[in-house]
Amino acid sequence: MRAWLARPFKTTARPPKSRLLSEVVPATVIVGAQWGDEGKGKIVDLLAQDSDLVCRYQGGPNAGHTIVVDGETYKIRQIPSGVLRGKTCVIGAGCVVDPEVFLAEVDELEGRGVSTRDVHLSGEAHLIMPWHVAIDQASERRLGKLQIGTTRRGIGPCYADKAARLGIRVQDLLDAKILRQKIEVALAEKNVWLERVYGVPPLDLEDVAGKLEALAQRIRSYVDDTSLLVDRALHEGRAVLLEGAQGTLLDLDHGTYPFVTSSNTVAGNAATGIGIGPNRIDRIVGVAKSYVTRVGEGPFPTEIEGPDQERMRGLGGEFGTVTGRERRCGWLDLVALRYAVRVNGITSLALTKLDVLSHFAELPVCVAYRLRDGSETYEFPAHQSDFHHCRPVYETLPGWSEPITDGLPDAARGYVDFVQHALGAEISLVGTGAERERVVALRN
Ligand code: GDP
Ligand code: IMO
Ligand code: MG
Repeated sequence: MRAWLARPFKTTARPPKSRLLSEVVPATVIVGAQWGDEGKGKIVDLLAQDSDLVCRYQGGPNAGHTIVVDGETYKIRQIPSGVLRGKTCVIGAGCVVDPEVFLAEVDELEGRGVSTRDVHLSGEAHLIMPWHVAIDQASERRLGKLQIGTTRRGIGPCYADKAARLGIRVQDLLDAKILRQKIEVALAEKNVWLERVYGVPPLDLEDVAGKLEALAQRIRSYVDDTSLLVDRALHEGRAVLLEGAQGTLLDLDHGTYPFVTSSNTVAGNAATGIGIGPNRIDRIVGVAKSYVTRVGEGPFPTEIEGPDQERMRGLGGEFGTVTGRERRCGWLDLVALRYAVRVNGITSLALTKLDVLSHFAELPVCVAYRLRDGSETYEFPAHQSDFHHCRPVYETLPGWSEPITDGLPDAARGYVDFVQHALGAEISLVGTGAERERVVALRN
């Protein structure tokens, strides 16, 4: 057995009982259908009740998933949201991990009585190193007005080094000699960039290596062969949830490039990010807000102009979980949402935060885009210049003023039906408040 299989999962000791592939219980993906912060954490927490494993397949501590339990708020960045339900949690190979953030999160959860004993971290995941954070910050500063508005947590530089095959992986933490060598090689180049290109102080080898070696002592017990673990679980008929971070429009290939994150957020990447076959996934639950928010720069056709922007931000508590930045708010965009249904293969949707709309007498919903040549389109523009210049075409739906916690009033039900019809995808869950139990199930 490889040395870094530090904690053999009970199923790794022997081959699983042979099952026909058709008998293997398929996995479910939960994917953000907008620009992130759709309420994925809450929906994962809900569906985790009936699941055995919850696995993150991409992203890192740029994510902030909020779950409110009995008036207590948990903001989780690195560990899958299923940890609060005591489920087996996996951080897959497609993720990037900041060891300091990971251990701080472990300490916080343990301190609040949430066990992290059943958290498994892929040895293949890449580590966010101090130079990644320094470069993310310096390069955003350098871009000035052209900046992306990243979370400045080192995500882009870490994924860039992974693709350039210069990355340091979680499994490298398990051998102090290899770790030090890799840090030394990386720093020789990164310090030139930091000093000469960005004009910021270089990092010290002893400081960085010493700190990482200390963190490694604590992290090693979490390291596992997570691809094998998840595959075995599926073969044993256990229910697996694959939790996305960020959202479809932040996907590196299919989002609003370059104003995106540096990983593939779409459901198709769930299999790659965990290391299972794509034929193991059959349900894809998209999570969308009843309106839209975006943090950071980039085009946003339905962004609200005028006082309703601030009103919606206040009512929805739209401030970034990770950075505290104001989230930009807009009306629901059905063109973008239909695109998300397409590129993810969404089989059902959870529409969150419908309660926030209770305070508006009229609800504009974007049903098409008007392009520069005056034509209208229902399809998400493939060319970025068309998207940057498009104008939303709205249909206005009636609002409602009754509370929606004890069932949906007619106008709220009408809003949901309108969205469902326009998308050609069923809405199975509606969010009616931040608390864990504030969800209406329209279908199983
Ligand atoms: P995530 O990153 O997709 O998990 O979403 P965030 O946690 O960053 O942001 C969603 C915010 O909306 C959090 O503060 C949640 O507590 C809150 N939230 C989730 N669902 C609902 C809902 O149905 N109604 C209201 N009012 N708040 C919700
Ligand atoms: P969750 O999982 C909302 C945005 C940043 C920036 C862009 C690139 O909570 O939905 P990055 O640091 O990833 O290089 O930043 O992506 N962004 C998010 N926006 N929710 C997130 O995560 C996000 N993670 C990154 O604001 O615009
Ligand atoms: Mg979030």
